[in-house]
Formats: sequence, C-alpha cells, structure tokens
Amino acid sequence: MRRLFPVTDVTDETAAREWSLAEIAAAYAYPEPGPGGREPWLRANMVSTLDGAAQHDGRSQPISCPADMRIFGTLRALADVVVVGAQTVRQEGYRPARARDEFAAAREAAGQGPAPVIAVVTASLDLDFSLPLFTSPLAPTLLLTGSGAAPDRVAAAEKAGARVITAGEGGAVDPARAVRALADLGHTRLLTEGGPRLLGQLVAAGVLDELCLTVSPMLTAGDAQRISGGPSVTLPRRFALKSMLEEDGFLFTRYQRS
Ligand SMILES: NC(=O)c1ccc[n+]([C@@H]2O[C@H](COP(=O)([O-])OP(=O)(O)OC[C@H]3O[C@@H](n4cnc5c(N)ncnc54)[C@H](OP(=O)(O)O)[C@@H]3O)[C@@H](O)[C@H]2O)c1
Repeated sequence: MRRLFPVTDVTDETAAREWSLAEIAAAYAYPEPGPGGREPWLRANMVSTLDGAAQHDGRSQPISCPADMRIFGTLRALADVVVVGAQTVRQEGYRPARARDEFAAAREAAGQGPAPVIAVVTASLDLDFSLPLFTSPLAPTLLLTGSGAAPDRVAAAEKAGARVITAGEGGAVDPARAVRALADLGHTRLLTEGGPRLLGQLVAAGVLDELCLTVSPMLTAGDAQRISGGPSVTLPRRFALKSMLEEDGFLFTRYQRS
C-alpha cells in the first residue's frame, strides 16, 4: 500500500509491501483528547464504486478488496463502539465484533474492552434476537431506539441480553442524542458502518466528524444506493482531505469536517 496524500517521501519504501496492522492503525488514529478530556468523535467507514454504488446485489463485499477489509478491521479495533443501521445488520448478517490478538495490548492501553461494542439503530426492533450478535457478544449489544419502541420487542431484546437505550421521541432516534447517550456510557471513539439511510441522517444532523471512504475501481451502473441517502441538506457539508492511501487501484480516503 502507498500513501498518495499527504506526500512525504517519493521513495516511500512502504509502497512495495503490505502495511502492518500497526501501520494502518497509526494512519487512522482518533484525535488526541483536548484539555477538557476526550470529546465524542464520529467517524464513518464506507465503500463506494466509481459510479457511486454503495452495494452490489445487496452487499458491500463485492465492491471491497482485501486491503479494504484490513482497514475495516483496523477501524473497528480503534473504536469504542460501532454504530450500524438495522437494515445493514439484517442484510449483511452482522456478528459480534471479535477480540483480536494483534490489537489486544493497544486496546488495553487505551482503556478499551477487548472488542468494540455494536450499537444497532432501530425503530422496529425487528431483529432476530437468537443470533450471536445478541446471544454471545463480548460486551452486550446496544439497541438505540425511540421512546415509542414496542414494549414486547424491548422485552425480547433485553431477555436475549441486549441493552436498550432510548435516544429519541416516538419511533425515531435523534442522531445528536444517540451520540450523547453513547458518550455518557464512556464511548467517545465512535465508528459508524452505515448503512446509507442511517448515514444520511448523521450527515443531515451535522454529527459526522470524519468519513473514511474507500473508492473502489469498479462501475456497476444500476440503481444501487449511494453511501448516504434520505432528504438532502440545505447547504453541502464541506469536508477536508486528511489522507489518501492506494492499493491495487483502490483509494482509501480520509476526510474530516472542515
Ligand atoms: N458501501 C458501504 O460501505 C455500506 C455500508 C453499510 C451498508 N451498506 C449496504 O446498505 C444496505 C443497507 O443500508 P440501508 O440504508 O438500507 O439501511 P441502514 O441504514 O443500514 O438501516 C436502516 C434501518 O435503520 C434503522 N434506522 C435508521 N435511522 C433510524 C432512526 N433515526 N431511528 C430509528 N431507526 C433508524 C431502521 O431500522 P428498523 O427498520 O429496524 O426500524 C431502518 O430501517 C445494504 O445493502 C448494505 O450492503 C453499504
């Protein structure tokens, strides 16, 4: 993998070899805490084709690559919590995050548990609570929902071991309230993996600090979703390029809120 931006050394020796997980982790470190402590930082990690498709045949795997998956795993290993929309959980068959030996010491030093907590955003709580995501995670899976969630679904979720957190009125989760609720639990290094309907709301609510976007060198045509959907914002949100890596024609970009 090679770094294209910022350009530091044209004879970069790393260009000819695979980066170690530690090198990737260093390239994607969360911002250091300020004098007042660590503020919540919400990063999204998404992949898109050249023509803007965020999935192919309902999944993101066909537009990804091994280096993308290494970055995906590393971003998880840096996070306190992974926030994900319920449809992505249903469609991609989400499993609990696993503890990885390669990151154990760094996570312990950062005061983190062995693996990030998964937090599912859902109004319906229409999820299969017999799945490992609920029955055997290393830390209980969180369900972020609205105050109007059906009591029988809440009871079923809690019986399965999930922790239900109200972060909105009626059916909808309020993104800013969800970020605050997670920070109140001590989760400030936030990672969202979408999907597009959830990401669109995070963008519109102005709570997204960073986008790690993999640009996949593929064209798919069709009518697949873009990486963020829903109603458009009044004024485009401006982000600044922080870094760009490349391997095998895939671009791994990192943009932060300007
Ligand atoms: N390219 C990528 O990087 C990437 C990443 C992730 C996913 N994907 C693809 O995206 C597709 C799924 O994404 P999607 O956009 O359809 O769905 P999504 O954003 O993953 O999930 C939508 C669901 O999340 C819940 N939700 C979202 N906002 C909510 C709010 N404010 N309050 C309460 N609940 C809320 C609702 O769940 P309930 O229905 O349970 O109420 C809603 O139906 C899949 O094909 C997946 O492969 C691509």
